[in-house]
Amino acid sequence: MNTVGPYDFNGTFSGAFTAHTKLDVEAGELHAVTYSPMWDHVRHLVVDPAGRIVRTTQVPLAGSPMMHDFALTKRYVVLFDVPVTFDPEAAAAGHPVPYIWNDQHPARVGVLPRAGGAARWFEVPRILYSHTLNAYDDGGSVVVDLTTFPAPFYAAGRGTGGPGSVGSPSLDRWTIDLTRGRVRTSRLDDRPQEYPRVNDALVSRRHRYGYSAAAAEMFQAYETVDGVPPDRTFTNALIKHDLKRGTSEVHRFPRHAAASEAVFVPAEASDPSIAEDDGYAMAYVHNPERNASDLVILAAQDFTGKPVARVHLPARVPLGFHGSWVPDA
Ligand SMILES: [Fe+2]
Repeated sequence: MNTVGPYDFNGTFSGAFTAHTKLDVEAGELHAVTYSPMWDHVRHLVVDPAGRIVRTTQVPLAGSPMMHDFALTKRYVVLFDVPVTFDPEAAAAGHPVPYIWNDQHPARVGVLPRAGGAARWFEVPRILYSHTLNAYDDGGSVVVDLTTFPAPFYAAGRGTGGPGSVGSPSLDRWTIDLTRGRVRTSRLDDRPQEYPRVNDALVSRRHRYGYSAAAAEMFQAYETVDGVPPDRTFTNALIKHDLKRGTSEVHRFPRHAAASEAVFVPAEASDPSIAEDDGYAMAYVHNPERNASDLVILAAQDFTGKPVARVHLPARVPLGFHGSWVPDA
């Protein structure tokens, strides 16, 4: 594989971009929230099907918080202002993630109309939000499913507690009551897990299922000097959540395997309004017996069953955080 080159959105782009975009398939809009330690705001960008940025909204935001991911509903963009902020010392030391826990910084969630305008901010518990599974409008509320870390979080390996004092990420639901102006938080699953995914066709719409990777020693990922997560970040299991029934299924791989983020790939001609989980969960799984990776394909409706396929790759694929499936057009 080779890098083709930077993409400038047909000349409409400048500044920073993001690792986490949200594609609203129905609206034909790609949304992004971008941030930079040099800015006094974050930017919400909307990209049209032709790949042009057609709208940019600047949301004033002080203190340079880490805003790694966001959430999208039919009506709103959900922003996370967390007490983990840019640290010039860590940056000068060359740390790959120069952000540290900041007791002086607020913990808030912002709700910005998709069409632009001003964000409304709501106080949330002082924890670190990390990744969104999905979000949707529910009457006068906004529901966000996400993974969170307990406070404090040592992104740059610095702090009073140090390694080992950091708790594990879990799956939570935040319900933002726009009428009463408050956020109700609940824990959907307290088993350590990260990298939550949904059937991408349902991004911004109500979902039932979610997929996540069991995560063992997450904080270790941020302790390495090169920023590359070690295999022990991950464990040998993937989780499928049925958030309507409040149940889950676990697919367990051999004991020393390490499974990374599961990407949901819909079956051909599947209709998510009929069977949201009609498709496959794909993940790279490190196979220690071969010292190489397998691309493992699970039937999402038979999650604990034998994999549909196991593609033995000739080399180890480092267990990065994220993946995407791009169908052959
Ligand atoms: Fe991420």
